[in-house]
Amino acid sequence: MRIDAVFGPGAATPAVVTGRAVVVIDVLRASTTIATALHHGARFVVPLESADEVITRSKQLDRSEVVLAGERRMMPIEGFDLGNSPGEFTREKVEGKTVLLTTTNGTAAMTGLTGAREVLVGCYVNLRATMRAVRAATRLGADVLLVCAGRERMFALEDAACAGRFVRMLMRRATTAALGDGAVACALLDKRYGENLARLFGDSEHGRALADAGFGADLEACAEVDAHPVVPVLRDRQLVVLDGGKRP
Ligand code: MLT
Repeated sequence: MRIDAVFGPGAATPAVVTGRAVVVIDVLRASTTIATALHHGARFVVPLESADEVITRSKQLDRSEVVLAGERRMMPIEGFDLGNSPGEFTREKVEGKTVLLTTTNGTAAMTGLTGAREVLVGCYVNLRATMRAVRAATRLGADVLLVCAGRERMFALEDAACAGRFVRMLMRRATTAALGDGAVACALLDKRYGENLARLFGDSEHGRALADAGFGADLEACAEVDAHPVVPVLRDRQLVVLDGGKRP
């Protein structure tokens, strides 16, 4: 088995994606928001690249069944129902609904993947559940690709550290796995920060920007390890809960 990590949506080319179990990691905040929405009963989360796509898609559906959500420069998009703060995606707001979501990096990283065996969305709030799904794929012979979504097309510390957690957990049972250099670097970051996610977010540019913009509560939500133990999986360009919608 081989484990690689790539940084930024553009790095996940068909050559590295094809046939792999892929985990898209955007800790701050798209992956966390998606896991929260699905855990709170959203039927689908549809990752879309632009606000225009969200509006176009919403017109094809009953308005009462959709939630328009997303951010640009961290802020909610004018006229949308929700921004990209995980805490907004309560059961009251999303249960039974289709969430149409556009974010700067995270949703772009999810839409551009072709040829993957499976595309999962992972972060700290669904760490162990996602880990179990990745292990199941590796038992069937899949190699693993961790796609760190990053920020503004650049490397993001928190995504790499979270990818490192996946690498280290996988290596506990697959000690002979071959690691690419990206995966090794991620594992070293996770080793450095360990459980101290407050310190990780404090060192990260995106974490500091969110805190400065008044999104401190979001940082706390994104650090709640295993709070939302569902695994979002891409099926027909929509994210649903893996395993037929069973929610713990
Ligand atoms: C993204 O996808 O770029 C992020 O989720 C940005 C954010 O913090 O809202």
